Amino acid sequence: MRVDGKPLRTIWPAADESRVTIIDQTRLPHEFVICELATLGDFEVAIREMKVRGAPLIGVTAAYGLAIALRDDPSDTGLAAASARLLATRPTAVNLAWALDVMRADLFGLPIAERAAAAFAKAGELADLDVAICDAIGANGLALIAKIAQRKGRVSILTHCNAGWLCAVDWGTATAPIYKAQEAGIDLHVYVDETRPRNQGASLTAWELGQQGVSHQVIVDNAGGHIMQHGGVDLVIVGTDRTTATGDVCNKIGTYLKALAAKDNGVPFYVAAPSSSIDFAIFDGVRDIPIEERSAREVTHMRGRTDDGRLETVRIVPEGSRVANPAFDVTPARLVSGLITERGIIPARREALATAFPERLVLV
Ligand code: MRU
Repeated sequence: MRVDGKPLRTIWPAADESRVTIIDQTRLPHEFVICELATLGDFEVAIREMKVRGAPLIGVTAAYGLAIALRDDPSDTGLAAASARLLATRPTAVNLAWALDVMRADLFGLPIAERAAAAFAKAGELADLDVAICDAIGANGLALIAKIAQRKGRVSILTHCNAGWLCAVDWGTATAPIYKAQEAGIDLHVYVDETRPRNQGASLTAWELGQQGVSHQVIVDNAGGHIMQHGGVDLVIVGTDRTTATGDVCNKIGTYLKALAAKDNGVPFYVAAPSSSIDFAIFDGVRDIPIEERSAREVTHMRGRTDDGRLETVRIVPEGSRVANPAFDVTPARLVSGLITERGIIPARREALATAFPERLVLV
């Protein structure tokens, strides 16, 4: 994808492998700031404080974090301790555990002296793999959009949160089909849910769609149902932080309500689901996926730029009101029209997932 017309990934390593550069996503859309992560602590803070966020990018960042940690302590104990610290940063997106598992499986068998260099190379492979997976999701989702375009001309898509370029290494998951459709010359319009409380839609998705020149409108979280009732949405595409072996989809809080509205209005509801976001050990998403509870301050306060250019944070909730802030919810498989994976669009069903990814099945 492009920022100010220049191609850019969301994470890239220094040539001497001493550090990794990221875009600080907490500063967007007001400021484009890059920052360097050079210690295990830097990586923990970046993931926990959501300088990097979005399931695929969290996984790749953790892989690089492990590689950096192994330069100081490549022993078995060092490997286990650094993985545990990274794993503890955020609980819901399974890509974190997936990436750390892949890294550990590769590294444990290696001589200790070779581990740090091998880990850096492997993290780079995972970054490249993420790009390839999102590229394939884009190609598969393009077919879906192209079919609607044939029938209707302009295609209107609603998306929630940021499952865009910024949530992955390149392309994004839910946005990959949108960017591919744009390249194919399809006339598109995207409704972007603002996605309270952190506003990933308003701040991140709108910013990146703007950078790529995709027609879009930001809507408040509660507007989607109304727009669907009036025929304004042809297709919903969202991302996922963890999809179960049975096709239940955990994603940013509010996704479930969009799926219900889509069902009621006969709007197809698709989930862009890279295999790195599928948890083949969980079968009931509502019961078993750990949902991150984030700080009350995300709800009580809002940050923005004043008309005279100052960045300010203001309180919008009365002092003394208590707050609940679950960051994700689960959309049951029955509400999902299909999963756009790197291996094709498949039903959100256990048999379909098992057939598409037989090498990932776990014994229960
Ligand atoms: O809390 P965030 O911003 O990390 O949540 C991100 C989302 O919920 C995305 O929709 C999800 O990670 C899918 S991105 C492929």
